[in-house]
Amino acid sequence: MSRSVCRLAAALLCSTAAAHAAPSPRPDEAEARAAAVLTQMTPQERRVLLRGYVPYYAPARLLGAPNSAGVVPGVPRLGVPNLTESDASLGVANLGGVMRAGDGATALPSAAALAATWDPALVEKAGAAIGAEARAKGFNVLLAGGVNLVREPRNGRNFEYFSEDPLLSGTLVGHAIRGVQSNAIISTIKHFALNAQETGRGGLSANMAEAALRESDLLAFEIGVEIGRPGSVMCAYNQVNGVYACENSFLLNDVLRRDWGYKGFVMSDWGAVHSTSIREGLDQESGTNAKKPALFGEGLETALASGKVAQADVDRAALRILTSMYRLGVVDRPVKAGEPIDFEANGRVAREVAESGIVLLKNEGQILPIGTATQRILVIGAHADVGVLGGGGSSQVLPVGGAALTLPLPGEPIYHKKMYAPSSPLLALRALRPGSSVTYDDGTDPARAAAAARDAQLVVVFAEQFTAEGKDVPDLSLPNGQDALIAAVAAANPKTVVVLETGGPVLMPWLDKVSAVLEAWYPGQRGGEAIARVLTGEIDASGRLPVTFPAAVDQTPNPKLPGSDRGQPRGDAGLYDVAFDEHFPVEYPEGADAGYRWYDRTKAKPLFAFGHGLSYTRFAYSGLELAGGRTLTARFTVANVGTRPGTETAQVYARVGGVKHLVGWERVVLKPGETRTLSVTADPRLLAAFDVKARNWRVAPGAYAVAVGSASDAPRLEGEVRLTGSRLRP
Ligand code: GLC
Repeated sequence: MSRSVCRLAAALLCSTAAAHAAPSPRPDEAEARAAAVLTQMTPQERRVLLRGYVPYYAPARLLGAPNSAGVVPGVPRLGVPNLTESDASLGVANLGGVMRAGDGATALPSAAALAATWDPALVEKAGAAIGAEARAKGFNVLLAGGVNLVREPRNGRNFEYFSEDPLLSGTLVGHAIRGVQSNAIISTIKHFALNAQETGRGGLSANMAEAALRESDLLAFEIGVEIGRPGSVMCAYNQVNGVYACENSFLLNDVLRRDWGYKGFVMSDWGAVHSTSIREGLDQESGTNAKKPALFGEGLETALASGKVAQADVDRAALRILTSMYRLGVVDRPVKAGEPIDFEANGRVAREVAESGIVLLKNEGQILPIGTATQRILVIGAHADVGVLGGGGSSQVLPVGGAALTLPLPGEPIYHKKMYAPSSPLLALRALRPGSSVTYDDGTDPARAAAAARDAQLVVVFAEQFTAEGKDVPDLSLPNGQDALIAAVAAANPKTVVVLETGGPVLMPWLDKVSAVLEAWYPGQRGGEAIARVLTGEIDASGRLPVTFPAAVDQTPNPKLPGSDRGQPRGDAGLYDVAFDEHFPVEYPEGADAGYRWYDRTKAKPLFAFGHGLSYTRFAYSGLELAGGRTLTARFTVANVGTRPGTETAQVYARVGGVKHLVGWERVVLKPGETRTLSVTADPRLLAAFDVKARNWRVAPGAYAVAVGSASDAPRLEGEVRLTGSRLRP
């Protein structure tokens, strides 16, 4: 049964999905054990489960907890352990070593790179690797699973999120969560919901009609919850349609519990609680300070005393927390700090992700891969002589072996540091081309770099864009004069290759002056090696864009960054700074049509389309067969008609309501001459509109155009299929 159909069935406990899920007791067994232990708890013991602390500000009895994002007291006398929480999706974070000096962890490539692999199994393997490290460091909760859709290309946290498409994002985050939780620890999925920018994140109201929200951001969460079955959902800082996410009963009770049947618990983001919103669906307040009153501490006592909250509300929240703990093995397999970690194996996973996520955007005259005849190579910029850039914020990981370089940003919080993982593309290139002269120029003087470029047979310019939590970048231009550097070098030597280390899409005014462009994202612990292996053709370039690269900011739904008129760009990367909880509305003209769907609707031509990515070989498509009915199935054959082994991600799009929707894909590795017949069946929700009144998905009967190809703008096979029309729930 293909993955996409299984997803639908997974909502009905499809055997396939359940069979692959981490071995865990059936939900009802976990709930029964939770209920049994709850009856043994005093009312006070039940309440302590509902309030988390920042370890540094925790009560004395918790001070032994590993210092990271959070700790929640357990009930030792009943064998219920503390919840020890660390960030995040890209590895075991510790604010660049601030929290646990020297305690490095495997720094995965960014979620953008994970998404650019389009490879659920690889993403799951990466989740398993960082989940194992969290466990070995004494954490039984990993605050992973960031899956907000990439709607705003300037969002400082896009590097932590997967994609602009709900199916790609939901599928990959679900597999990442499964990987993390395969270590008998809890993963979150976050930030629920519509946390699409950082500017004013604590006070803005993200506004969107329910149907559009259900068909986009919520669908990504719904698919992620079905596949990953996360122990916890983290509600977001922002308001959704005027109600804070952590007190939004529509989101937390109606959608999450009533419609999706979610049995886990909702924790807040750190400082995101505005009331004792236990009846609105929040179960646990995160990140409080024991020396200050908390809404789920003293506030809960007051609410209980006044009758605003009943003991039954506390019991329900405690039951949800305990059910996740039992279901995921947190009670039966308690974590213990100091367990051994196979950093070598986990580093190889990080490199595999980085390699598979690198997207070859342009390759004029097949200048890449670098041939052995190219003996004089000049590498320029972005500290490529020492390492590769990562993103900033709570997800920032101190790499194994320490950072190669750390550049504090004046006036920024402790975790807004530019940090480079110790994996130098320059040294990796030299190791792969021992017979060549591979020299380096730091790029700080464009004229000097251009002069050096004249003598090289090939120039590789590394360009970086630092992005971080809490801030958005004010535009999509490469900062600090890098566009001028690239233009000067390319004018001196047209055999120039640009390697981008960015948080997301950037503009490229020099694009027609250079021969090739690779997007390496934040490539993580072994990123330098990965980049060198793709540049030299050790492996095929196989990444495909999980986000659209605009040709201009004016093409985007909100050309002016919402709220940007309320703050000033500041800091090294020109990051915005707006008062954390300033109230202002954010509207989304695109509605459900985020990303490539917006470009399809507006007929704007982006710089590079969603799904785009070149290979070092060539693929031919043939033999499209379409079957209709309640959903659609596309069968087709892909052949490697080039001379090198390569990886193709064949994508299937259907035109729904006049707009192109990704309805499935298959990633295939083919030797030269090899062919493979593939089959993709669409999850009907991707063909449907959400009927708010009926609270159901409805696929309209009729003819649907289908395109199969190597990108959203590159159909290779086209056809039409008739659907009978259906509703997801009878
Ligand atoms: C941060 C982030 C969240 C993170 C939490 C704990 O503010 O929004 O993603 O998990 O706080 O660090």
